[in-house]
Amino acid sequence: MTASTVPGLEQAPTTHRALLDWVRDVAELTTPLRVVWCDGSQDEWRELSVDLVNAGTLVRLSGKPNSFLAVSDPGDVARVEDRTFICSENEADAGPTNNWMHPVDMKVLLTEHFRASMAGRTMYVIPFCMGPLDSEEPKLGVEITDSAYVVLSMHIMTRMGTAALERFTAPDGTEREFVPALHSVGAPLAPGQADVPWPCNPVKYISHFPEERMIWSYGSGYGGNSLLGKKCYSLRIASVMARDEGWLAEHMLILKLISPENEVHYVAAAFPSACGKTNLAMLQPALPGWRAETLGDDIAWMRFGEDGRLYAVNPEFGFFGVAPGTGWHTNPNAMRTIEKGNTIFTNVALTDDGDVWWEGLEDRPEHLTSWTKQDWTPGSGDKAAHPNSRYCTPMSQSPILAPEWDDPKGVPISAILFGGRRKTTVPLVNEARDWRHGVFLGATMSSETTAAAAGSVGNVRRDPMAMLPFLGYHAGDYFQHWLNIGERAAPDMLPKIFYVNWFRRGDNSRFLWPGFGENSRVLKWIVDRIEGRATALDTPVGRIPTADALDLDGLNTPLADVDAALNVDPGEWREEIPLIENWFKHIGDDKIPSALRDELESLRLRLG
Ligand code: GDP
Ligand code: PGA
Ligand code: MN
Ligand code: MN
Repeated sequence: MTASTVPGLEQAPTTHRALLDWVRDVAELTTPLRVVWCDGSQDEWRELSVDLVNAGTLVRLSGKPNSFLAVSDPGDVARVEDRTFICSENEADAGPTNNWMHPVDMKVLLTEHFRASMAGRTMYVIPFCMGPLDSEEPKLGVEITDSAYVVLSMHIMTRMGTAALERFTAPDGTEREFVPALHSVGAPLAPGQADVPWPCNPVKYISHFPEERMIWSYGSGYGGNSLLGKKCYSLRIASVMARDEGWLAEHMLILKLISPENEVHYVAAAFPSACGKTNLAMLQPALPGWRAETLGDDIAWMRFGEDGRLYAVNPEFGFFGVAPGTGWHTNPNAMRTIEKGNTIFTNVALTDDGDVWWEGLEDRPEHLTSWTKQDWTPGSGDKAAHPNSRYCTPMSQSPILAPEWDDPKGVPISAILFGGRRKTTVPLVNEARDWRHGVFLGATMSSETTAAAAGSVGNVRRDPMAMLPFLGYHAGDYFQHWLNIGERAAPDMLPKIFYVNWFRRGDNSRFLWPGFGENSRVLKWIVDRIEGRATALDTPVGRIPTADALDLDGLNTPLADVDAALNVDPGEWREEIPLIENWFKHIGDDKIPSALRDELESLRLRLG
């Protein structure tokens, strides 16, 4: 079959030359049965969801309106960091934290994988826009995929279809650039061959071409590998754009905090995957009188505004949240969002009455169908939901959505939080002395690995600014870029930087700090520090709240635990020094900005 005979190819709702050419080339290479240009309509959603229910990919839930459960292939449940590649022209530009292959070699190799990879399937063309549609320079992309699950997920996670495609032509008539993002599950069907509920390929490549601003993803249907607007575009490719253009593309939530006196502060926070971003973004403050509103739970793009402050925009349109641990007690706002329906759940358990359940949700049923499609009872021993199971739900359904969430201008950030999952050493909260020290804290932060990525869980690793898996270029250059950003603004215009750890443990490995809504106490101290109202204690690693500065009114946690959570133990920190040294060696001592080496040296001196 020649490409010109592929049904649908000629029905393009656009005259954009580069887009038409690219779609034709991909159709010729991948030989799908038909091409569908996605419009993002309700009809499209209905049709595809019915198709996927018939195919056994989705189960329609009776417990929530217009909502579905997908269970994946057991080998396709998380991001695959060891299969993720930054294909810069020079290996040195990818840096030591990324897998690298020469772009030509990767293209030659992957072209053979993509050849006829969509045989027997539909090829969907999804125009999308990351960030508000009415931005002056909308960040456009087109994902081509052979997965209808990806199309439905993109409906939720991005501004896509007709509304996005309209932005492909600028007001003056010029054709705008877009990021081509090619995806295939890598499971072609021979004529007459029956499909499986979750097609994928054991061979996976998540490839990025930073100079060309292009993405090729092969073999996985899992969100982080297949929804290419998210990690691939908005972090890996966008981090390179941001370096070149003088802004920041970061793995951060965006939260609006309103004090009892109606002061407003916007906070951005970078925690590694499965370390609390979505939960903090949806915070229900335990402190009376405080309110929180959400603007984003995973990605922030930050640029300087005309007033010299950093303004953040969330490029996404939905939440892709970790299900386990989410419940009415921990995250009621997430529960209220998904109760409204229009949600796709992946790898959670199915109740006998057609609803979903996962560990950490209240009202555990006595019988379930687990994510592996096994009968499950509380005595089964296994988890009913995969630890990285997810809900994918529209942001617009959040009961605490900030009214300015879709404003292309973004919101001015007062504080940046870095944080991770550390059982020991790292205090509950620690304020950086200045921007440079804050960059040091971010560049050397560490966290235990989680189920969000394939591989072992619970190993402490350095995860700079929570961007280790998402950097599109050399980590050393990235640190320098952060320092440069700090040079461009007056110190009092920059966000204050803090390092938090909700996950410190006491004996019996219990959490010392209750977390979730109680984190508002830490945020209150942070706001008070910004406003110059709260006191802090200088320690060798930074500034922590003095005994009376943290509002503990009504907190049920024993004071001894709070003290232990806040404690800075110089002995424990001295053990961090060689780990940080090794980290710097790994990045390359010549690539570590001298300002950060100076910070390490003064930390060493302060620890004695
Ligand atoms: P994200 O992947 O960074 O967005 O992290 P999530 O907010 O989805 O949280 C990941 C896991 O950490 C979930 O199981 C949460 O229930 C849990 N979690 C989130 N915030 C806290 C907290 O403050 N304390 C504790 N102990 N667990 C938390
Ligand atoms: P998360 O997003 O940060 O909410 O876990 C998905 C991911 O990072 O893989
Ligand atoms: Mn993430
Ligand atoms: Mn999240």
